Amino acid sequence: DLPQRITIYEVGPRDGLQNEKTVVPAEVKAEFIRRLAGAGLETIETTSFVPPSWVPQLADASEVLQLLGDDGLGPRRPVLVPNERGLDRALEAGVGAVAIFGSATETFARKNLNRTVAESVEMFAPVVARAREAGLWVRAYVSMCFGDPWEGPVPVEQVVEVSRRLMDLGCDQLSLGDTIGVGTTGHVSRLLDALDAAGIGADRVGVHFHDTYGQALANTLTALRHGVTVVDASTGGLGGCPYAKSATGNLATEDLVWALHGAGVETGVDLESLVETSVWMAGQLGRPSPSRVVRALAGS
Ligand code: HMG
Ligand code: MG
Repeated sequence: DLPQRITIYEVGPRDGLQNEKTVVPAEVKAEFIRRLAGAGLETIETTSFVPPSWVPQLADASEVLQLLGDDGLGPRRPVLVPNERGLDRALEAGVGAVAIFGSATETFARKNLNRTVAESVEMFAPVVARAREAGLWVRAYVSMCFGDPWEGPVPVEQVVEVSRRLMDLGCDQLSLGDTIGVGTTGHVSRLLDALDAAGIGADRVGVHFHDTYGQALANTLTALRHGVTVVDASTGGLGGCPYAKSATGNLATEDLVWALHGAGVETGVDLESLVETSVWMAGQLGRPSPSRVVRALAGS
């Protein structure tokens, strides 16, 4: 059975805009976030505190948060931080929630974090400890949970092992990243069962599917039937990772909302105003949204 209500964890401003060729001005990013909140999205990942040399698209992280001001929603406005330098910048900007981001595979850990998996866990440990001391909510992403462009299919046990190490640092939530969108429903079930058996129950898990192979929605519904109630999605279907070839956009928030509302699952989102936001953002980016729901509804 599907849950009665789920939380959409919106990643468009971060996962979406980190992967755009054009650098979107900070004021447009802030307006995007305001519009997303206005459409009913309660949890929005706003930006990343990574070196501008690694992700120039999000070099304006502090400025975006300053433009948004303190609306008291800090715990529902997570930002990505890879290391203590990132945490320092995030704390200075007054954030209420952070996300660290590990990898299930050695190759992607090297490409995305310039570290081995073990070294990246060492890098995250003081970040999580200090974030918790400061009273922040902490999420742990694991990337390449299903397949890796360099290593191929990723064994479930390998994902469980990295997830356990990250959650043992004291994180509140785990997000399972299908960075390149190769996962399928049976694989999703096996991974969630294995995590549950390892003590990481569905109540602490979110799912993060990129839609490269068109499986993101099916995989999400499978996860919801396993008891997951937090779903990552990106308005307009923007997204991708600059350090993983073949990563395309995330599950479009509109596609998710269309499916869930049809199934009687509450999201709190107003689909019409979300589509309006996507159309507005597509205008800013100069290209149409890849979401089929956006195209269908915006065209009518
Ligand atoms: P590194 O080059 O090994 O870092 O990168 P370093 O510690 O040697 O520092 C290099 C320079 O950057 C130094 O400056 C630092 O001070 C500075 P210099 O001394 O040369 O002048 N620096 C910083 N500046 C600002 N903010 C910081 C910061 N840290 C260091 N936070 C590092 C290591 C982890 C920093 C780098 O590899 C990195 O940032 N990687 C992140 C790449 C990234 O953002 N990828 C996309 C997000 S992950 C994703 O999209 C997947 C996800 O969506 C889930 C999924 O789909 O699977 C989450
Ligand atoms: Mg992603």
